[in-house]
Amino acid sequence: MNYNFDTAIERAGTSCVKYDLRENLFGKADVIPMWVADMDFETPDFIRTAVIDRALHPVYGYTFRDSDYYKHIINWLDKNHQWNVDKDSIIFCPGVVPALNFAVLAFTKPNDKIIIQPPVYFPFFGAVKSNNRELVNNQLIKTDNGYVIDYELLEEQAKDAAMLILCNPHNPVGRAWKKEELEKIASICLKNNVLVLSDEIHADLVLPGFKHEIFAKLSPEVAAITITTHAPSKTFNLAGLSTSSVIISNPGLREIFKKFVDNLHIGMGNIFGMVASNAAYENGNEWRLQLVDYLNGNVNYVENFIKNNIPAIRVLRPEATYMIWLDFSAFGLSDADLKKKIIFEVGLGLNAGTDFGPGGEGCMRLNIACQRKTVEIAMHNLKEVFSKISIETTL
Ligand SMILES: Cc1ncc(COP(=O)(O)O)c(C=O)c1O
Repeated sequence: MNYNFDTAIERAGTSCVKYDLRENLFGKADVIPMWVADMDFETPDFIRTAVIDRALHPVYGYTFRDSDYYKHIINWLDKNHQWNVDKDSIIFCPGVVPALNFAVLAFTKPNDKIIIQPPVYFPFFGAVKSNNRELVNNQLIKTDNGYVIDYELLEEQAKDAAMLILCNPHNPVGRAWKKEELEKIASICLKNNVLVLSDEIHADLVLPGFKHEIFAKLSPEVAAITITTHAPSKTFNLAGLSTSSVIISNPGLREIFKKFVDNLHIGMGNIFGMVASNAAYENGNEWRLQLVDYLNGNVNYVENFIKNNIPAIRVLRPEATYMIWLDFSAFGLSDADLKKKIIFEVGLGLNAGTDFGPGGEGCMRLNIACQRKTVEIAMHNLKEVFSKISIETTL
């Protein structure tokens, strides 16, 4: 079956963050919203049908995550990532960001040092700072070939750190970290007793030519220091159903985390999240493959368009995720001016690079999980404004 990703869906008016909060966030209600990480595509029909079927049952009382729920996750991880996980290692959480915060609280103490790798998904900062832990920035290095890890700095920082929060694949710079890169991180963390919280929510959205490497799969020793987060929400557009997994193979760490979650009484989750997760993992691989193909087409479009029309913008081609990191530094604009230009002259709602911490200066994050037509309009609007700015005079 061929799925259609070209049909536009009216999302405005559904209490939808991406559309209905534009005025609040950008000060302009009609920007083309290419920011928060969800997709403008319809959630696949086999998921909607499963949710509707369950909704037709007239009682929405207490439920539990049954053995089918775990079976589908286990099968998915096995088939798509060759990762063998047992049922006991999987702990339900109502979202990855909550899970990151729970893990910080459960496994570290106030004032402990926690390393993150900016520019990175901004709730990582909150998970450290709002919980009164000390933030340690292992800033990524921008090279002519994309972003790489500063191992030398990491080696130093790991000496007295309690945890590293790894974004694997990395949002916003789009890296699908290679096995060799992860092995270097793992060896530093093992040597220094640093726990690794590996956020793998984008694992199923790796673009052609690249592969997702599960951090915990590197070795049994690495698995023993790793807490992994995974979810169907990005891949199948289910963020509104609050369903994710924390996977911990080390029984000692798992018990600590389970106790934490049990105390909060959040282990039940919502009925529809469970039903949707089952349907996604049972029937969703073909849809996912076609989605990735479509996303890759959008990435190609952006890359070619910018190369041919506004070459001063640097496109950091993503290896994974549906985010494109665009570097506008060549224009020499301040971050405030860049933001204003993008919103009020180009008419786009993007995430400012500076929201992702140090290293985000001069950059913007573009979400291309939308109809190709929208991407085309966005690119033409961008050209209208940026092709007229002379780089020589502004530098
Ligand atoms: C790396 C990363 N982790 C977590 C999330 C959000 O997870 P959740 O909605 O399950 O809290 C996102 C969403 O963009 C993300 O990019």
